[in-house]
Amino acid sequence: MPSYAVIGGSRGIGLELVRQLAMSADNTVFATVRNKSSSTYLNELVAKSTLSNIHVLEAEVTDHRTLKAAAAAVAKVTNGSLDVLIHNAARMELANAYRGLTDYEDDDKLDTEFLDSFKVNVLGAIHAVNAFLPLLRKGSAKKIAVIGSEGGTPEFVWKLRLSNMAAYGTTKAAENLVAVKYAALLEPEGFTVVGICPGFVDTSSTAVEKPDDTIMSILGGLVARLPAISTNFTLISTEASVTRILSLVDSISTKDNGSFIEYVEYKKDD
Ligand SMILES: NC(=O)c1ccc[n+]([C@@H]2O[C@H](COP(=O)([O-])OP(=O)(O)OC[C@H]3O[C@@H](n4cnc5c(N)ncnc54)[C@H](OP(=O)(O)O)[C@@H]3O)[C@@H](O)[C@H]2O)c1
Repeated sequence: MPSYAVIGGSRGIGLELVRQLAMSADNTVFATVRNKSSSTYLNELVAKSTLSNIHVLEAEVTDHRTLKAAAAAVAKVTNGSLDVLIHNAARMELANAYRGLTDYEDDDKLDTEFLDSFKVNVLGAIHAVNAFLPLLRKGSAKKIAVIGSEGGTPEFVWKLRLSNMAAYGTTKAAENLVAVKYAALLEPEGFTVVGICPGFVDTSSTAVEKPDDTIMSILGGLVARLPAISTNFTLISTEASVTRILSLVDSISTKDNGSFIEYVEYKKDD
């Protein structure tokens, strides 16, 4: 009975991770959400599921106490263990996600957005792993996947001249490194810790915000520049993205510990 915890399973890629994992009756799936009652897509999935193998727990990644409480609830079901942790939650509010370094009304707003993003995207990942680590140590797979982003790599940002998405990209870069820190720390214990990029994923069907004209124009510019740098980086469905992620999670082993698995394939002459 492999057990999986998906941190941030209410919508988007996280929701699809829960849906695909829960399709196997063998799997026990724990999904953390910030707010159970407003996680309508996940609640619908749980209501429709005939396997009763999805457990929904509340956790806010900026509050380590809630993550520890979620881990304690998981331990009660699994007898203290967890096989795989997938850390998916990220701060992606549209109002700030697309801003560049000079786009803030004032420096206080810039500070606030960078610090809030750091709390969610970096400390959130650290607190999630720390909270579930005692359970993972007792699990049989000892796998941790941190959902990363090419938007947090210097190569992608430079090739695409991606000056906006500054707080998001900077903190995802730090989160990418957090995964490597855990890989180094946990190598002697036989863990496999990887970062996995999901690709450019259309999560609009479960989004809580609609992009306005400014964001659509930034996105349009970005999409128009993609073919010049990459052969494969086009908008894909959550289903396709998650099928690939879960196939990677399944196939990785200790020889992959510390790797950062990108989706993008760059054009050779770029
Ligand atoms: N979509 C893409 O094209 C893309 C590309 C590269 C990387 N990624 C990465 O893929 C992951 C999922 O992205 P997505 O597109 O599916 O995003 P999304 O649809 O915006 O979903 C974000 C998820 O994170 C949760 N979350 C946000 N802040 C949280 C907090 N403080 N505490 C706990 N949970 C929190 C949200 O929960 P609530 O419902 O409570 O807000 C939601 O479940 C992220 O790590 C993102 O960086 C996505």
